[in-house]
Amino acid sequence: MKILTVVGARPQFIKAAAVSRAISKHSDIKEMIVHTGQHYDENMSEIFFREMEIPEPAINLGIKGKTHGAMTGQMLEGLEKVMLAEKPDVVLIFGDTNSTLAGALAARKLHLKLAHVEAGLRSFNMLMPEEINRIVADRLSNLLFCTSDIPLNNLRNEGFENFDCKMFNVGDVMYDAALFYSKKSAAHSTIISKLGLKDFVLCTLHRAENTDHKSRLVALADALNKINDRVPVVLPLHPRTKKILAEEKIKLNVKIIEPVGYFDMLEMLKNCRMVVTDSGGLQKEAFYFHKFCITLRDETEYPELVEAGYNKVTGADGKLIEQAFENFLSLKKDFSEKFFGNGDASGKIVQHLKAG
Ligand code: UD1
Ligand code: UDP
Repeated sequence: MKILTVVGARPQFIKAAAVSRAISKHSDIKEMIVHTGQHYDENMSEIFFREMEIPEPAINLGIKGKTHGAMTGQMLEGLEKVMLAEKPDVVLIFGDTNSTLAGALAARKLHLKLAHVEAGLRSFNMLMPEEINRIVADRLSNLLFCTSDIPLNNLRNEGFENFDCKMFNVGDVMYDAALFYSKKSAAHSTIISKLGLKDFVLCTLHRAENTDHKSRLVALADALNKINDRVPVVLPLHPRTKKILAEEKIKLNVKIIEPVGYFDMLEMLKNCRMVVTDSGGLQKEAFYFHKFCITLRDETEYPELVEAGYNKVTGADGKLIEQAFENFLSLKKDFSEKFFGNGDASGKIVQHLKAG
């Protein structure tokens, strides 16, 4: 069996690391990784392949830094050529980026079997590029792997039971990755001592809905500066946000560092007081490391975390952010729920891929 895996952006390297590790246990499966090139800085791409021992991509299409249409179109063209030459039995895509969308379109136009990891997530906000990408990717997929019953039910509500596809709740491959690599991270990371971190808040910020609206970004910077007056905030800054903050001359007093590798991230997750983020993946990781999470978005794909009181969705509302921060400083909860499976999602995915 030949699997062609399409990746391109940081969260996909982390998800692919877990699934590739599971695939490598099967001598009858050959995996070929194709990198679209969407993320290209050393600390946004190569570091993950090195640290997480992800098989080297067979091809890097080098498509980066373009508008949505240009990026997706060029990826589609590049991926089509590779898929025509390689004739895989199945194409594997992850998440909701432009690389996911291009992989889905290229595969199905060539009548190749398509499997989507992290299927069914919905924010119900069609202004998000991610929502558009995931809806199309889901609709085109033959095998849909969901992180929990919530995305599975989203698919059912959209009528997927009437489509020619199979859907499974396998749990979260990011949980597999968190469990596996967190055993190794302390030996490979010096970030806590290097930055002299004691009590700190871990923050990331990169979503278009925040970076592309100046008033929102200013409000968020103001709220983060206020938190930083109480507990130091560490912000590994996505290059997208770095560029816009500089262009708009928005002042952030927090500790800004370059994007970090997964081992550093895991050590910061283990040691931080709480997480403040607009990332999708980090909301789940906060939970895995028993940290409360303030979500700087107007909605989340993980309502289970909000309903259970582990996550507060605040948007860019300074008052809500401040209230959530105060609440989470003293709140105690046990983080014992298994919302996203048992850390064996990747193995289950491989079994389903083999079964067809
Ligand atoms: C993409 C995904 C988003 C995901 C995020 C993960 C889409 C539509 N969005 O957003 O869902 O949450 O990745 O991090 O696919 N840049 C660099 N170096 C890099 C990568 C990006 O400088 O290695 C800069 C470039 O200026 C680029 C900009 O960041 O134009 C945006 O990158 P892009 O890949 O288009 O989108 P992300 O914001 O990273
Ligand atoms: N991450 C990382 N280094 C960083 C910031 C994030 O390794 O400097 C990891 C993070 O722990 C998570 C993944 O990247 O596993 C999330 O990716 P991102 O926030 O870029 O994308 P999203 O999940 O929002 O699509």
